[in-house]
Amino acid sequence: MIKNDLFLRALKGETVDRPPVWMMRQAGRYLPEFMEIRKKYDFFTRCRTPELASEITVQPIRRYGMDAAILFSDILVVPQAMNVEVEMKPNFGPYLPNPIRDKKSLDQVIIPDVNEELGYVMDAIKATKEKLNDEIPLIGFAGSPWTILCYMVQGQGSKNFDKAKEFCFTQPVLAHELLRKITDTTIAYLKAKVKAGVNAVQIFDSWGGMLSPVDYQEFSWQYINDIIEALKDEIPVIAFGKGCWFALNEMSKSGASALGIDWTCSARNARYLTGGNITLQGNFDPSRLLSPPNEIKKMVTEMINNFGKDKYIVNLGHGILPNIPLENAKAFVDAVKEYKQ
Ligand code: CP3
Repeated sequence: MIKNDLFLRALKGETVDRPPVWMMRQAGRYLPEFMEIRKKYDFFTRCRTPELASEITVQPIRRYGMDAAILFSDILVVPQAMNVEVEMKPNFGPYLPNPIRDKKSLDQVIIPDVNEELGYVMDAIKATKEKLNDEIPLIGFAGSPWTILCYMVQGQGSKNFDKAKEFCFTQPVLAHELLRKITDTTIAYLKAKVKAGVNAVQIFDSWGGMLSPVDYQEFSWQYINDIIEALKDEIPVIAFGKGCWFALNEMSKSGASALGIDWTCSARNARYLTGGNITLQGNFDPSRLLSPPNEIKKMVTEMINNFGKDKYIVNLGHGILPNIPLENAKAFVDAVKEYKQ
């Protein structure tokens, strides 16, 4: 049904001529056409207006022809739907004026009707599917429960999410109650996305690497695994844990179709830790897109050779940076399309 199904075939582990390519945060601030829209509408207006969200989603596809699109939205629309206020402050990032730190604030957190509170996301998916015209698959996503907790408790971005960790380690019963609420909401949210038409989902555990291996199991992985279990029979699930190489072996035994790898883990080590059978996605250092285009192409070819062309999805090890020159992003995608064994 989808004309270019390279990405879906890689998720199934099928043999391909070349691996598929997309970039985390590909819809964003390095694109002049995105900046035009950004000038006119604030962040959550862009998220909440299906015409804008779908337009931003297809912008990088028009320019570079990636093998998959990822819906323009944000992981923080979930806390909003759960009755936690989230602002996106210019030149600051996410700001949650009433962070969850005690029983009283936790009791205000609801498990919403996702179709009611996040219906605009479903509408954006439908609008995007129309624009994509079955050319390439569309990826839906959510933050991991731990990563969402990080913002809900810290109240803003952080280098170490110290307040989030303090909450988990001093009030673990409350922390688990919050993680459970986020998990249940996320399962319903991703199932609604599947119904609306996404072809795969990715769980972003951007702050999983803040935890020790033991704490990762307790506060992050078990909830991600619950989400995977609830979704895996309906749709391929990609689990991306930034800084979570220590958990790759455990993750590889789950029902996930693919695992995201960041650039601090070599291809060889990632294959070793995951047993060589599961599809891996990554792991180009986003800052390396600042190298000259011919060097980028060389490094991408080497990266494919190191991971192997099968059971592999070319991506960055985290989101693309705002200061990446357009021709460098193009070199990254082109190198994959020109790949020959
Ligand atoms: O991948 C894509 O292109 C789809 C869009 C997307 C956005 N956010 C748009 C966005 C996705 C997949 C996300 C996920 C997201 N959001 C994550 C997980 C991935 C990661 O990067 O670790 C996280 C942690 C967030 C929370 C968030 N949203 C932060 C910390 C910030 C501010 C920092 C930044 O990157 O600008 C945002 C804002 C945000 N989300 C922007 C975009 C395009 C930039 C704000 C703007 O356009 O004004």
